[in-house]
Amino acid sequence: MSSEYLVEIDHVNKTFFTRHVLQRDEDTGKRHFYRVKACQAAHNIAFNIRPGEIFGLLGPNGAGKTTTVKMVSGLVRPDSGTVYVDGLDVDKKRLDVLERVGVVLEGTRTSIWPLTPLENLTYYGNLKNVKGRTLRKRAHELLDFIGLKEKTNIQVRRLSRGQKQKLAICIALIADPTVVLLDEPTTGLDVQSSRNIKDKVTEMTREHGKSVLVTTHDMHVAQELCDRIGIINKGELVACKPTEELLELFSDQVFEFHLDRRAMVEPLETIPGVREAAMDDDDGAPLLRVTVEPEAEVRSAALYATVDALGAQGLLLHSMAQRQQTLEDVFLNLTTTD
Ligand SMILES: Nc1ncnc2c1ncn2[C@@H]1O[C@H](COP(=O)(O)OP(=O)(O)OP(=O)(O)O)[C@@H](O)[C@H]1O
Ligand SMILES: [Mg+2]
Repeated sequence: MSSEYLVEIDHVNKTFFTRHVLQRDEDTGKRHFYRVKACQAAHNIAFNIRPGEIFGLLGPNGAGKTTTVKMVSGLVRPDSGTVYVDGLDVDKKRLDVLERVGVVLEGTRTSIWPLTPLENLTYYGNLKNVKGRTLRKRAHELLDFIGLKEKTNIQVRRLSRGQKQKLAICIALIADPTVVLLDEPTTGLDVQSSRNIKDKVTEMTREHGKSVLVTTHDMHVAQELCDRIGIINKGELVACKPTEELLELFSDQVFEFHLDRRAMVEPLETIPGVREAAMDDDDGAPLLRVTVEPEAEVRSAALYATVDALGAQGLLLHSMAQRQQTLEDVFLNLTTTD
């Protein structure tokens, strides 16, 4: 069955159960051996990734990002819901799926430390049915692009953490996978290496029509790299939108007015198109924040009316600016409400 998506995750749930050993009760002498605690790592997660698209998954520690990556690569089996890769059910066609997927998991444990980077790539290439000249050529090209050329024949255990991370990325790409899963790929990498990886990911996605799922804590990586972003919090996808739309979700609509005195906000809130008006202070200077409707004409009328109303209150307007939002603001907005 052909599909317009390379990755399809449909209403996936995963709960982990952990056993907590309890101590003996001093008074009664009774012993409770354990208590089972449930942790819902994925709650109705659903999103798709098209060929040529980079999808970013952001979320605080323990949100469920790695669990989601593992469910797409078949390393964790969901309790319910379905995951399809290239039209194949991950649960039923695991081996076929593994052939199509390249994965970098967080940490540096992917590679075999007593072997060299070249031996690692040869080993993993063989496992994935890449052999002979193609394998050798690809291994050298990858080591070259990622900056590990001079470490080609040195045991992995002698590499730095960042170098091991780079090798993990090469291993993920050795079989030229259709779907690339990158769990925090740039953690611990220097600026140049991080840049190279972002460029490589962009190139292979755009030019070769791959689908990429990337998780990161680095907002710049997400903002620069991803076409769409899902924000996950406590196992739930709280937002899933094209990157620009996600940024617009909270930007565009808040305007700041620097005034000479505090304004009366109640009359401002009756202006059509004004959602909220509130006084704040910016290092002692009165600052009015007005949130307006996003629709262009409504917003324009609301802003004119606000300026008029401030003039009518006899206030001196020093400056007016649109508040610039970053992905970090959006992220904090969506994940800090308890
Ligand atoms: N094998 C496991 N057994 C029990 N609980 C687990 C297991 N794997 C993950 N969890 C729990 O599931 C939740 C989600 O974990 P996950 O590793 O997916 O988070 P994450 O978003 O990748 O976090 P981080 O940003 O710290 O990498 C956590 O609360 C974690 O403790
Ligand atoms: Mg993780």
